[in-house]
Amino acid sequence: MDCSTAKSKLFPYVDGELTPELRDQVDTHLAHCTACRRLVDFEVAFREAYGERLRPDPAPERVREHVATLLRDLGHGQRARHGRRRLTPLVLAIAAALLVAVGLGAGMALKAYLGTRITLPELAGAAVEQHQKLVRNLLPPDIRDVSPKAAEEWFRQRLTFNVSLPDLKTEGLRFLGGRISHLGEIEVAALEYQLDGNNVSLFIIPEEAYRRLQLREKPRFKVVSHRGYDVVVWRSQGAGYTLVSEIGERACHVCHAPEEKLEPLPRPSAHL
Ligand code: HEC
Ligand SMILES: [Zn+2]
Repeated sequence: MDCSTAKSKLFPYVDGELTPELRDQVDTHLAHCTACRRLVDFEVAFREAYGERLRPDPAPERVREHVATLLRDLGHGQRARHGRRRLTPLVLAIAAALLVAVGLGAGMALKAYLGTRITLPELAGAAVEQHQKLVRNLLPPDIRDVSPKAAEEWFRQRLTFNVSLPDLKTEGLRFLGGRISHLGEIEVAALEYQLDGNNVSLFIIPEEAYRRLQLREKPRFKVVSHRGYDVVVWRSQGAGYTLVSEIGERACHVCHAPEEKLEPLPRPSAHL
């Protein structure tokens, strides 16, 4: 797929409206085209900044098109002359100017743009860091000594996304407690378990934040190895999940009974 085809698929791509085949092709293109990747990032950031708050106002739609056109033209000129290195400050400057023009603080919008981008390795790193703090009690739980069902209720009253915690199905499993935490800028439900003496942290993240990771559908379970910890990331029924432990797929037994035959997890995709 070339740049112009990729660009023509940009909006349906971000909207998640492409067929899996087309989406894969766009993904492949984005993997080695920084220019198009930036357009996608920008569009996602734009929706972050305007999507909910300004939807009733027709102006942002026009501004959005203007931004898209500007970026498209910029991308072309830039590639024709030299590399893509200078695009970033220029794009951000134009973005800042336009955001001011529509009456939002540029600082705020840019923070939304820069702050909400998180990649799978970054998420894994943040999750491992939290796990270590939780295990060492540097981050005290908001709730403890309750059943998973009571914790579920507690989170549901405080978070906007679907927190679903099954009952304990395994002998050696204890639910230690939970808290509302952050991975990067993502607000999460952080849950602490102990399974046969091993600490397991489970982070439940909003589906929207999971979507922003822009992960492929397959394999369903993304496995990252980070500082000796096993990190598994996936999506299920309206939420994203991140599991951190030192016991690989056995950590899945915080929700699944050991008799359940779960498919083996893929090999870790990165050693960070
Ligand atoms: C937060 C609890 C939780 C954790 C942790 C969890 N699961 Fe699940 N899983 C569920 C629930 C709930 C279902 C749906 C069960 C049902 O429909 O009966 C499910 C279903 C599944 C299914 C079968 C059906 C489907 O939807 O495809 C598989 C396979 C599975 N999980 C694998 C895993 C693996 C592997 C892990 C560890 C990486 C894991 N799960 C961790 C809660 C969890
Ligand atoms: Zn391209």
